Amino acid sequence: MKHVLVIPGDGIGSEVITPTVEILSELVSSIDFEYASAGKALFEAEGFSISEGTIEAARKADAVLFGATETVYSSAYRSPVLDLRQKLDLFANVRIIRELRPNRKKVDFVIFRENTEGMYTRDEEQLPGEVITHRRISESACRRISEFSLSYCEEHGIGEIVCVHKANVLRLSDGLFVRIFREIASGYAEIESSDMLVDAAAMNIAMAPERFRAITTLNLYGDILSDLGAGLVGGLGFIPSANIGQMNAMFEPAHGSAPDIAGKGMANPFAAILSSAMMLDHIGFRKESEKLAEAVRSAVPGVEVDENGRCSTISAVDTVKRILFRS
Ligand code: IPM
Ligand code: MG
Repeated sequence: MKHVLVIPGDGIGSEVITPTVEILSELVSSIDFEYASAGKALFEAEGFSISEGTIEAARKADAVLFGATETVYSSAYRSPVLDLRQKLDLFANVRIIRELRPNRKKVDFVIFRENTEGMYTRDEEQLPGEVITHRRISESACRRISEFSLSYCEEHGIGEIVCVHKANVLRLSDGLFVRIFREIASGYAEIESSDMLVDAAAMNIAMAPERFRAITTLNLYGDILSDLGAGLVGGLGFIPSANIGQMNAMFEPAHGSAPDIAGKGMANPFAAILSSAMMLDHIGFRKESEKLAEAVRSAVPGVEVDENGRCSTISAVDTVKRILFRS
């Protein structure tokens, strides 16, 4: 029996996670689900956005399935997803940028994003008339994200990877990242590796996304480039993600809680369902994971998705279920 902690969160978080768990329960009988809350609603009720108890439960679970939470712009609010990534040391954020809609340009690459430090230390210092942000780049974090991304490529038959950085300006910090990446990549003779400045990478991804197979990068660059990639393939509603650590793992659609469409039945559930497929693979249900991902790939062309990436949640979920369970 595998144990999954489900944190639906706010807004469309629960609208996409509830049907995802329904699908998982029907597909795999040996998973038990425990629920916990986090996010804005919890913050407004309790004054914190995630409890220590939930962090502990996440630590003990075989995996966490996370929906989305709404950010409150108050200095007292801490993003629960960042807390989970950092406290559970989920150092590798893996996002799959793949075009699933028919008759579109081929886009199919993975972004590996260092997930624990960089601009995300949340360590800011208010001084008179200025704020200093401490951005940490450690040798160990560069090493493990480089190692993780190269071995992922090896395992998944991906023959090329680009290390994206800004070492022409951030010579010491990003310089360290590129140096370590190159050193580790030299041990993977069968994978063609190169590096690229982040501004050039943004332009190249926009102009010729089909040239990319894998990108490994630092935290903030990965955040921005994954949204750029999402924009090429129909929006964040199509982008699943995994946050992987040594001991724990968390899976979440790359989108947020979208309060503007919450409750309207318009949330695109494909990112959440695909994230749950990544989770199944991680906890040992490889066959079911492939079956689920394949069902999503077959379902997408039959579902009407608007120019903002929205669709009828119910009809998208029903299409996936029909393919999975009734054919
Ligand atoms: C993401 C999100 C988060 C991030 C926010 C919600 C803190 O944009 O998962 O990409 O910046 O990492
Ligand atoms: Mg983001």
